[in-house]
Amino acid sequence: MDCQAEEHVVLNVNGTLQELQIKPSRTLLDVLREDLNLTGAKLACDNGECGSCIVLLGRRPAKACLLAAKRAQGKEVTTIEGLARLSTAHVDSGESAWAAYHPLQQAFLEKGATQCGFCIPGMIMRASALLIKNNNPTRAEVVKSLSLNMCRCTGYMKIIDAVLDAAKHLRSNAPPEAQPFGEGPMVGQSIPRLDSPDTVTGAAKYAADLRMDGMLHAKLLRSPHHHARIRSVDTSEAKALPGVEAVITADDVPGTLFLPNCQPQVYVFPKDKVRFLGEAVAAVAADTVETADAALARIKVDYEILPPVVDLMDAAREDASRVFDHTPNLWGPEEVAQGDVDAGFAAADIVVENTYSVPVREHAAMEPEAALAYEEGDDRIVIETPLYHPFVQGQLSIAANLDVSSERVRIVCPAMGGNFGTRGDTLAAVVVALLARRTGRPVKIVFTRAESLLGSCKAPAVIMKYKTGATKDGRIIALDAEIIHSTGSWAPFLIPTTTKGAELCCYETLGALLSHATGPYYVPNVRARAYDVLTNGPRCVPLRGTNGNYLPLAYESQIELLAGQLGWDPLELRLRNVLEVGSRTHVGQVLEESVGIKAELEALRPFYEQARERVTTKRDDHQSPWKRGLGIACGWRNIGYLNTMIGAAAELLEDGRIRVLAGSVEQGQGPITVFAQIASDELGVPLESLEVAIGDTYTAPYPVPTFSSITTVGTGKAVQLACERLKLALREAAATILGAAPESIVIENGTARSKRPPCDKLMLSRLATHFGKYDIPMKYEASLKWQGESPNILYGYNAGLVELEVNEATGQVKLLDLVNVCDPGTVVHPEALEGQVDGGVAFGIGCALKEHFHPDNPPTLAAYGLPMSTDVPYRLTRLFVEQPYSKGPFGAKSAGEMPGISPAPAIVNAIEDATGARIYDVPATPEGVLAALKARCRPDPADRPIGTA
Ligand code: FES
Repeated sequence: MDCQAEEHVVLNVNGTLQELQIKPSRTLLDVLREDLNLTGAKLACDNGECGSCIVLLGRRPAKACLLAAKRAQGKEVTTIEGLARLSTAHVDSGESAWAAYHPLQQAFLEKGATQCGFCIPGMIMRASALLIKNNNPTRAEVVKSLSLNMCRCTGYMKIIDAVLDAAKHLRSNAPPEAQPFGEGPMVGQSIPRLDSPDTVTGAAKYAADLRMDGMLHAKLLRSPHHHARIRSVDTSEAKALPGVEAVITADDVPGTLFLPNCQPQVYVFPKDKVRFLGEAVAAVAADTVETADAALARIKVDYEILPPVVDLMDAAREDASRVFDHTPNLWGPEEVAQGDVDAGFAAADIVVENTYSVPVREHAAMEPEAALAYEEGDDRIVIETPLYHPFVQGQLSIAANLDVSSERVRIVCPAMGGNFGTRGDTLAAVVVALLARRTGRPVKIVFTRAESLLGSCKAPAVIMKYKTGATKDGRIIALDAEIIHSTGSWAPFLIPTTTKGAELCCYETLGALLSHATGPYYVPNVRARAYDVLTNGPRCVPLRGTNGNYLPLAYESQIELLAGQLGWDPLELRLRNVLEVGSRTHVGQVLEESVGIKAELEALRPFYEQARERVTTKRDDHQSPWKRGLGIACGWRNIGYLNTMIGAAAELLEDGRIRVLAGSVEQGQGPITVFAQIASDELGVPLESLEVAIGDTYTAPYPVPTFSSITTVGTGKAVQLACERLKLALREAAATILGAAPESIVIENGTARSKRPPCDKLMLSRLATHFGKYDIPMKYEASLKWQGESPNILYGYNAGLVELEVNEATGQVKLLDLVNVCDPGTVVHPEALEGQVDGGVAFGIGCALKEHFHPDNPPTLAAYGLPMSTDVPYRLTRLFVEQPYSKGPFGAKSAGEMPGISPAPAIVNAIEDATGARIYDVPATPEGVLAALKARCRPDPADRPIGTA
């Protein structure tokens, strides 16, 4: 515990002098957040590498997480909350709230540069320091400055654009103007995102920003071993420490001991043994974080260390040490088959066979796991925490852990600092709920970045053995695939799925792999097998999409190799084989509509041809170590999961405003804004008359997960249906009051009007009064079930190209140009969709070139290989081919998880195009590229003819 004496310190923060008594070791960030409640600056990495905590010290950027608060004495400290006062030249009479923003904040709003928002205050503060020094930076200077800050959502492109835009306005001494959005339908327009003002000002509250009177702080004791039997746990010394209010272990979990949705069942706290480094064993609640940490050091766990199996192939061996005593590590195979594979290979003119691998990866949401629990009302426990399925993964599973009915658990999602698949882990939420019930006081927990990296769920490692056969006329006719997939120390989402038309009955993780095995191509003869392997690694869950997203590295490398051997142009070979409306997939599903892959590839064609010309010209330069190459790739993935129930409601409020309620959560992808757009168009009310309430199981009890790209197409449709029902009631009420027929009533601009003379109008507040007077329900609910007879119902498609250079001396890869095409159905919000593309592309780049998690590596984001602003291409073109989906709201599908599909295989294909060296195992680090260059046996690409159909 910290026994230092406190010192008197005076800080000048945002123009106000603050007199404080603080311990000398406390950081500026801690004092700003805890003593001054200025929570815009975030703690995301603990070691100064992420930039989320940046403030201005005088006119220079400072990492508040590393700076002792007392060292800020005598200097002016500016935080995101006080930034606007630095630009008073741009503040007008106060009539417009937007005019009070700093030009950087306004530019971030205008450019749609915010997503989850967690990194944004740090980005803006870093950029403000740059613009103070240089108000006319080049793009390269902005990129370099921002390379000290990390963002997981945006892919940096719009942030860079926003900084350049703000600089322009600072130079002209005129504030950026809010982009006008036009008349007519809101769907299709980039209206200002409703959640962004809070993110650019630092007002958005994430779980770690929450505080309550009397709040305790929780910490977890974590396993120092990959694999060990627990002989005993002794908490007596920890409990005796002054300031400690509770210490809990597995024995203190009153209900089910397990985390949700997994097999074999995994404990909240394990009883028998620890199965990965960083697994939680016990928890403490104390009056300070320091006391909680001191208590952890007093818990004695007697371990018998066991041999670990951390790596996938080690764990799959028959004689491997078992992760769970009662089951082998290797599960499967599950299998899918169509046609006659052996006959298909016999008929093929060319057969290529290779093995590819993707390592374990980290979701790396910038907000570390955090939760606050407290009791309210009639013995209800409230847990404020970011979860993508607050109902099943939150309310139901935590109620089971607590052994209470689900009505006694309320989950509230505060602002969520990114998800990407990791926010289904309930550990933080269960722990604070248990401790809050034990102590009767609010309890908060915030994981350190090291805890988050070691203990949180990961994306699985995948090994893919692919054999593909094609004929000389460019038909892919046979595929044999074996896919081995690590699940870490559990196997999540084990829900059997079945399909008509093909013999597929498998667990969902394997089902996703098998049902995507061919890629978006028609292949008549298919055999695919998939295995799960338990390891002593962190628990694995999908990353930014289903596990089918890992397969393009294999099937897109194979088609490229086939093209090379057949002498076909890679684009033409893909076009010859892609699925179309009416195609039957290898699991027997006939695709009925919205199959955009062919149109996507055609949209790529002009970019592809121009890039091919540039690359060919560049190949004449034999002196440079930099070799230019071009790669294309495409892919597909399912939207939503079978049997998901989706609900929403639309409610007329007493003042005539409309409230939309839905169970989805905002994680930066924009559902609050998208639901408002859909409701506005369906109801005929302006955006200002709408509010959207989501992410609270008590106030919006409409269970739905926010995953698998289902939000716009699924929840958005439920919102539309609920609005349709409310509109019907509004028209009937207006017809009664006006003495007109309901079909003659239109709702527009927030009024109900009769189309027939005298065309009287009613305000919706008048209708609300009428509803109240005659007991007409104010709230209208709608639900739908996402179901069909195939393993998947609907697919999104993605295609892209990459132009890059590879340094043959160093193995470095430089991305020059990237084009990404999606088929989102109808585009609802172009700017938000572009942001999803940028983010997805950055994930693909990370997968191709940098990201690799291993529990024995240093637990930092930099060591992990998170992509930075210097890793994204100079130029990124986002294209959308709109192929409306008849069952989606206004024809919309979803596209959040598609853009990440094509970049990694396109990069790998471009590396081979540049150098003749094929990468089979990503990431293609400089060392990996050099090894591939050494192993290449193909002729120099400068001498290689470019294949044509
Ligand atoms: Fe940057 Fe989410 S917007 S981390």
